[in-house]
Amino acid sequence: MQMVRHTQRWFGCILIGFAAAAMFGCSDDDSGADDSGPFAGGFLGLGNVERNVTRCGECHPAQQANWAETDHAHAFQTLADIGRESTDLICARCHNVSDLGNDLMDDSLGYVMDANPRLRNVQCENCHGPGAEHLADPTNAPFPPIGVDLDLGCGECHQDAHHPFVEEWIDSAHAESHVSGSSFGLNVAQDPRCAYCHVAQSFIEFVKSDGTNTVITTEPEPITCVACHDPHGNGSEGQLRQIAGEPINCAFCHNSGDATIGDEPHHPQANVILGEAGYFFDGVENPGASTHGSLINNPDLCAGCHVVTVPYMREGDLEIPAQVGHTFLAIPVIDETTGERNVEDCMVCHSNPTLLLERYEQRIEPLFEELEAALEAVPESQRQTEAYLGALFNFELLEADSSRGIHNPPLSTVLLESSIAALEDL
Ligand code: HEC
Ligand code: HEC
Ligand code: HEC
Ligand code: HEC
Ligand code: HEC
Ligand code: HEC
Ligand code: HEC
Ligand code: HEC
Ligand code: HEC
Repeated sequence: MQMVRHTQRWFGCILIGFAAAAMFGCSDDDSGADDSGPFAGGFLGLGNVERNVTRCGECHPAQQANWAETDHAHAFQTLADIGRESTDLICARCHNVSDLGNDLMDDSLGYVMDANPRLRNVQCENCHGPGAEHLADPTNAPFPPIGVDLDLGCGECHQDAHHPFVEEWIDSAHAESHVSGSSFGLNVAQDPRCAYCHVAQSFIEFVKSDGTNTVITTEPEPITCVACHDPHGNGSEGQLRQIAGEPINCAFCHNSGDATIGDEPHHPQANVILGEAGYFFDGVENPGASTHGSLINNPDLCAGCHVVTVPYMREGDLEIPAQVGHTFLAIPVIDETTGERNVEDCMVCHSNPTLLLERYEQRIEPLFEELEAALEAVPESQRQTEAYLGALFNFELLEADSSRGIHNPPLSTVLLESSIAALEDL
């Protein structure tokens, strides 16, 4: 047994070469110790505890280097810092190697069975599953789930009242994006023009190829955690995936490309907020990006209003679950005691956003209604005019934006008012 293990270790060292071997400490640092696995269930764990190098990482140095910079790589220390390093099931399973995140069904395996330091932290094998078989035959690679659920993938740990990511995500439209429009016969998953925004695997390939390639798969998943988050980390905040060196953001999918008069714009949120959309009649000026769309004033842009978090609280016997912003709705936060929307994030800039919202709705809603009525009143014979087509485009643009003007208040007001005026002149 011991012999076999050492041979395999050498195989790893040869694969990554001497420079990397020196870097990751591939030398046999555990001679004499009898605790280096494989452990029950087939887990390999860390090869070098001091340097936090996983056995997997000895042969996969790129993933190892990225992983080492993530919070997963010191999840055990987080517990130790507050004196909770024991193997009690309550904390240990989510912060160390275990059955969570992979296909194993036996919850007694990993750190909770054997408090070996090699099994500390959320390692490769939490997501990929045990590696012993792969070590014996490298062509038999352990693949992690792309899907997510309370009993699957990232969601197995990122759940409950303290961090309800999967619970919130399940309620979001993203959890159904692979079947968008199926009720009216569309198949976004099998159409390469659609799949790269609607299907996790297709989007991941698109991002990894810097926007040059995509894949169509027979088992499409919606926009799950690993669509937006790089499981291995890459230095960007929150482990967000990067495209062309920049963390991906909502605007990447929520934009309408260069839709213009004559087209029907879809999901133009980014274009509207940045002031890059709309049909401008003669003499009408584009007010451009509003403060909401200014990267200087609102650096997180969409996430600044749509990924809002409120920490977990306990008041006596009352547990108030955390909110982690993964319904992706703007100001989604409902105050438990009043039942009202919590607009705290708007208060960075506005002193009374609730009042402002009410006043603004009173001002903007009538403009939507007025424009809709004016469009309906245009006779068939006038529907090829610039006035009609321009006004129709502006109306559909702001309807598809779905924020009732909030994304860009000045632009929305200008587009609605100038469209109404153009139709009056017909
Ligand atoms: C002894 C060296 C070695 C170790 C240790 C090792 N791997 Fe591998 N791994 C390989 C080799 C070699 C391949 C390529 C096999 C092939 O050509 O099919 C591979 C392939 C893979 C692949 C497929 C990659 C792809 O793009 O298709 C995954 C995933 C993987 N390994 C994960 C792991 C995980 C997780 C661990 C730890 C449990 C691990 N490996 C440990 C050598 C190793
Ligand atoms: C075995 C449980 C487990 C699994 C599976 C797991 N995580 Fe985690 N994750 C944790 C723990 C525990 C932390 C906190 C570590 C710490 O701060 O010490 C964490 C932290 C994170 C963070 C950093 C949070 C921050 O505050 O910056 C991100 C991002 C993350 N996980 C994403 C993922 C994704 C994406 C997946 C699936 C591909 C995943 N996790 C799978 C347990 C897990
Ligand atoms: C269901 C899985 C799970 C369990 C059980 C769990 N944790 Fe965590 N823990 C996580 C995840 C996931 C994170 C990262 C959360 C985030 O980034 O929002 C985390 C983060 C933390 C953090 C970092 C600070 C923070 O809140 O972000 C501490 C401290 C912590 N956990 C302590 C504990 C303790 C103590 C226990 C046992 C009483 C425990 N955890 C049980 C999954 C779990
Ligand atoms: C939080 C979960 C998670 C952890 C931890 C994790 N992986 Fe992965 N890994 C994934 C997922 C999901 C994929 C497939 C999606 C993708 O390629 O981004 C993947 C893909 C891979 C691949 C295929 C090539 C690639 O990069 O896409 C290799 C090799 C790999 N992981 C090795 C490792 C090694 C080695 C470690 C530890 C140092 C590790 N992984 C840690 C979830 C994880
Ligand atoms: C650039 C990314 C992107 C592409 C490409 C894309 N979509 Fe979408 N799609 C989105 C976004 C974002 C939404 C959510 C829009 C919203 O609610 O404002 C969406 C929503 C939808 C919806 C509405 C879901 C509902 O019931 O409200 C349907 C249907 C749809 N898309 C079909 C398609 C089809 C068919 C294609 C290919 C011809 C496609 N999409 C291409 C990003 C995209
Ligand atoms: C549509 C993209 C998207 C999806 C899908 C998504 N996230 Fe996130 N997530 C984000 C963004 C954006 C942030 C904010 C990142 C930042 O801190 O700048 C974030 C933040 C996080 C954080 C870090 C919070 C912190 O305290 O910094 C964790 C942990 C996380 N997500 C886990 C998950 C899990 C688990 C899932 C699946 C259930 C998931 N995410 C699905 C976009 C996404
Ligand atoms: C990979 C592409 C992609 C990314 C990235 C993405 N979305 Fe989406 N989003 C979609 C698609 C596709 C839908 C439509 C799903 C459906 O309704 O069928 C959608 C739907 C939504 C909806 C619901 C809209 C409605 O009409 O009900 C909201 C809100 C939303 N996204 C916000 C966000 C935010 C905020 C971010 C960034 C944190 C983000 N999205 C990132 C593709 C994406
Ligand atoms: C200033 C804050 C703010 C910013 C920044 C912002 N939004 Fe919004 N968004 C809102 C508000 C407020 C609504 C209306 C929500 C409501 O009333 O439910 C909204 C609505 C939406 C909707 C429709 C949701 C639904 O339920 O139909 C989508 C999709 C959306 N925003 C995506 C985005 C994207 C993508 C970005 C970045 C390009 C973004 N938002 C930037 C505040 C903001
Ligand atoms: C980064 C600062 C900032 C944030 C965050 C912000 N706003 Fe604004 N908002 C402004 C400024 C400044 C204006 C004035 C118009 C302009 O210059 O763009 C404005 C204008 C508005 C208007 C139009 C008021 C009018 O009379 O024209 C509404 C409504 C509004 N914001 C609602 C919100 C809501 C709701 C949120 C939170 C979801 C929010 N804002 C978050 C800075 C912000």
